Amino acid sequence: MSANLYRTISDLKGFSLRNCPPMPEPSGVLMCPPDHFQVLAVKNPYMSRHVGAVDVEKARRQWDELVAAFEKAGCPVRLVEATPGLEDMVFTANSSLAGTRPDGEKVALISSMRHASRRRETEAFEAWYERNGYRVARLKSGGHETFEGSGDAVWHPGKRLLWGGHGFRTDPAMFEQVAETFKTPVILLKLVNERFYHLDTCFCPLTPEAVLVYPSAFDAASLELILKIFPIVVTCSEADAVARMACNAAVWRSKTAIIQKGATVAVGHMKAMGLDVVEVDTSEFVKSGGSVYCMKQYLF
Ligand code: ARG
Repeated sequence: MSANLYRTISDLKGFSLRNCPPMPEPSGVLMCPPDHFQVLAVKNPYMSRHVGAVDVEKARRQWDELVAAFEKAGCPVRLVEATPGLEDMVFTANSSLAGTRPDGEKVALISSMRHASRRRETEAFEAWYERNGYRVARLKSGGHETFEGSGDAVWHPGKRLLWGGHGFRTDPAMFEQVAETFKTPVILLKLVNERFYHLDTCFCPLTPEAVLVYPSAFDAASLELILKIFPIVVTCSEADAVARMACNAAVWRSKTAIIQKGATVAVGHMKAMGLDVVEVDTSEFVKSGGSVYCMKQYLF
């Protein structure tokens, strides 16, 4: 196993946030309009009661409001055109992971999606990245191993460090290539609860020091890693985590948190941490198992 991957606290010898180099904050987000958004087949537990039940016009209004919330927070929004027939493309976090290497090169690592219905999403993103100054990197995989981009690979705010979730959508072996592509260490976290099938459903860094988590989504070794690295770990209530996908909030530059409305306990934690909180309604997207964080890709 590469020296750049950490699975247990005994692997962490000598590693701490203090000796982790800084990394530039994101420069904006990449989003995709929900032109073809639908819940068609059940890919996660959220979707099971909602097949065919998306209110398309409401979804469009909610997406427009989310774009406005990012812009109001000072976060520029770039757009990729929706491809007909790709009902999950609105979740732009999943089909790639954008970032920088230590020499400043901008790289987009293209995902290898678990579900066949999502595999064609990557084409439009590859083209977008090529037009916008990124080097496009592809995974070497035997065709079976999967990696779902920033759904499962979350940048630590302001640090050259990635958190890598695996267990449902991403194979742990893929993080060797992720670490190599970005020349960045990855701390691996094992997900054990299928409702929290992507890391961004149960793990939300608020600042470089604080993270919001839903603890029972992780195995014990993973929780230890989180507690070892983050000085402040706040827990999300079950109601906020499940019904409102509160850990799928996005925090812009450790200043403004954008979160599904009604997650009272999580909002309290965020405000106590000094964040401005903007509540938005993403209920049509929660039917598909996604909310704020996964409806955008951080750009650099
Ligand atoms: N319906 C999509 C899927 O199951 C939702 C993806 C949401 N993304 C996320 N990172 N949580 O693939």
